Amino acid sequence: MSDNQPHFKEVLGQISRLIAVTTTVLLLVIVLIFVGILATDHVQEWDNLYLNAPEVTLRQKLTLENAVEYQSDEIKYGYELITNTDQLIGMSVDDSSMRYTGNVLRCSSCHLQGGTQSYGIALVGVTGRFPQFRGRENKEGTLSERINGCMTRSMNGIPLPEDGDEMKAMLSYISWLDDFFGEDASSISPGLKPIELPNRAVDLVRGETLFNKQCTVCHQSNGLGVASSDNSAASYIYPPLWGKLSYNNGAGMHRVITAAQFIKFNMPFGITHESAVLSDEDAYDVAGYMNSHERPQRANLDLDFPDRKRKPMSTPYGPYADDFSIEQHKYGPYLPIAEYYKQAYQMTKKK
Ligand code: HEC
Ligand code: HEC
Repeated sequence: MSDNQPHFKEVLGQISRLIAVTTTVLLLVIVLIFVGILATDHVQEWDNLYLNAPEVTLRQKLTLENAVEYQSDEIKYGYELITNTDQLIGMSVDDSSMRYTGNVLRCSSCHLQGGTQSYGIALVGVTGRFPQFRGRENKEGTLSERINGCMTRSMNGIPLPEDGDEMKAMLSYISWLDDFFGEDASSISPGLKPIELPNRAVDLVRGETLFNKQCTVCHQSNGLGVASSDNSAASYIYPPLWGKLSYNNGAGMHRVITAAQFIKFNMPFGITHESAVLSDEDAYDVAGYMNSHERPQRANLDLDFPDRKRKPMSTPYGPYADDFSIEQHKYGPYLPIAEYYKQAYQMTKKK
């Protein structure tokens, strides 16, 4: 028995060491699991944030970009033309025969995220809506004519040849967007989202204050945007809102109501229509302030909307089918104008 004593002690010692080691290992495992849970939780939280925040648009864009890679050359070219317009058919490209636009904007400066942003004048679902009746020309118009509408006004340029590679590529890309989204296409809201119009004229002073607070960090206080330094063909990181290099006075964005709807649900850049930061009144005043500045002038605008009563209320040039002043058409108040069209022509005007 006596020589068994040390052996027993040894066994006891080994057992306790074993217990100690096991406990340490277990503790380590528990700590690791805990850290793991915390980390995944954090990732999930981050992911949720990522999904709800403006970045969702970045993610959308990345998948769009990736998907485009696998498409035909024509679709790829269309995507490039819409998102890099200035680099390919801009006013300062090397090949002078390719200078179709007359400013530094890109189609995607307004048709955000390559035309995939809800209420950011999406190009998804557009193909099926054309040909359609167009009040500006008072006739049935095709999608290429509509694109050339933006070419000559929003882009202050010349029309693209209807059967040229550029027009064909743009049409292919726009039509492909419907395939890309498939059944989800209807979840991308078209056009612009209406706002409630204040029953007063634009307050330019208030507009300027808001502009300085919300917009100048990118578009600069002179509204002329920021050019990128690393490019021969002038490329802008932040596009100009007025001045020689912006949209002309015949563009849809030059109408206060259209601009207010765009700004409210798309600016400051990064927001979506679900995370708007400006109130309707803010957007209205900022839009008026933005459009109070000088910009390229388009000739023969008086020929627009041959049927004058179809002219949108905030079109800032005459002639009109009413007696309200140009000033009131440009800056409101719009409710009296809307009321007039209801009485005189039984027309409901919202823009
Ligand atoms: C300065 C902003 C701006 C730029 C730049 C611009 N557009 Fe537009 N575009 C608009 C506005 C505003 C509308 C009309 C939206 C509305 O009233 O719902 C529009 C409408 C359209 C439509 C019809 C959309 C629909 O829902 O029926 C097409 C197609 C289009 N643009 C294509 C283009 C293409 C292609 C380019 C580039 C060559 C371009 N646009 C550049 C502002 C712009
Ligand atoms: C964080 C930077 C940022 C801020 C702040 C910002 N914008 Fe923009 N804005 C952009 C960018 C970038 C684009 C072009 C989008 C693209 O190319 O994807 C743009 C496009 C526009 C356009 C259409 C293109 C053009 O040049 O006409 C308008 C109009 C506009 N912004 C108005 C505003 C107004 C008004 C505000 C303030 C309420 C504002 N933005 C605040 C970055 C910004």
